[in-house]
Amino acid sequence: MRQRWFVPERSGILSLEGAAAPYAAIWGRDVLTARLYPKYAATPTAGVHPATPQSFPRKYIFYGIIMTLSKETRIIRDAKELSAFVKSVKHDNKTIGLVPTMGYLHEGHLSLIRAARAKADVVIVSDFVNPTQFGPSEDYATYPRDEQADLAKVQSCGADILFIPTVETLYPNGQGSTWVEVQNLGNILCGASRPGHFRGVATVVTKLLWLSQADYAFFGEKDYQQLTILRRMAQDLGCPTEIIGMPLVREPDGLALSSRNVRLSPDARKQALSLSRGLKKARALFGQGCRDAQKLIAEAQSEIAAQPDTEIQYISLAHPDTLELYTQQVPDQVMMLMAVKVGGVRLIDNMRMDERC
Ligand code: PAJ
Repeated sequence: MRQRWFVPERSGILSLEGAAAPYAAIWGRDVLTARLYPKYAATPTAGVHPATPQSFPRKYIFYGIIMTLSKETRIIRDAKELSAFVKSVKHDNKTIGLVPTMGYLHEGHLSLIRAARAKADVVIVSDFVNPTQFGPSEDYATYPRDEQADLAKVQSCGADILFIPTVETLYPNGQGSTWVEVQNLGNILCGASRPGHFRGVATVVTKLLWLSQADYAFFGEKDYQQLTILRRMAQDLGCPTEIIGMPLVREPDGLALSSRNVRLSPDARKQALSLSRGLKKARALFGQGCRDAQKLIAEAQSEIAAQPDTEIQYISLAHPDTLELYTQQVPDQVMMLMAVKVGGVRLIDNMRMDERC
């Protein structure tokens, strides 16, 4: 039987298997080396990892990469346990990258986790369907959830922690007294049809930033208004976390990835492609020199309205940083943002238009 090694360390548990395991441990984690293999740790070698022994067989470097990548993600559900973990990470002067999500992860989420993995020493992913950002007639109860699948995906991206709090953990006194609200920005676009939504988002993200003490927090441009609001919130509150925006990830056929896409019937999914097609058509018109907001909006609108089961909530043009809305002339850099119900499923999408179009 192959021997399996479980080696505890500050930011998780390494699971190693087979004859190469001790070598992989040496190559992969210098912390371990110092503790378990002091003989090797003391052998600095030019051009390779300082913990690599001089006689280190090349094939074990390959094992080392595999083993390091297969580091297990630890699930934390309790706020105190997360705080203790964070304290130990800070004690080691390591940086923390946070990726807040509502779970049911897809490649859009994973792109954020990979970016966090590349930038920070320790990566915390949160998986929490936040009740305060759902309106009374919205889909909180039926929002898709799959903890086991999420764990496997988070693990494949090398995250250290998957934080899965309960509602009581994040709202210990119920949803009563303390809210974080970004005025104005939260009431336009999606905020106009979802009152209180961005207040719920800003509040829960504040709690997560506070708990994780993150140096960096990663958000997708898919939710462009959300990203803009969180940037403003962090600025206004003097929050030490750097808010990092990442590009929107699409399916090969153009559909913006979203946890809610599973709700689309095959027919609605086809119709949903009209969103990205409409955006691209408007962008092409912009590229031809059109700066008339109404014409640009009409270009996207006609593509979407041609589908039988679409209901446009808004299509707007806004300043990329301030979200100031344009109704007449647009400048040379502008965002087109939209929310459309397709077969009863609310989808959002957006595209940047600038001189490169
Ligand atoms: P959720 O919809 O799960 O999204 C989590 C993060 O993934 C957000 O930053 C979102 O912008 C990003 N994301 C989703 N789809 C994406 C795509 N196709 N391309 C790139 N990034 C994508 O957004 C939320 O959760 C919540 O509001 C949250 C911030 C977690 C607060 O509850």
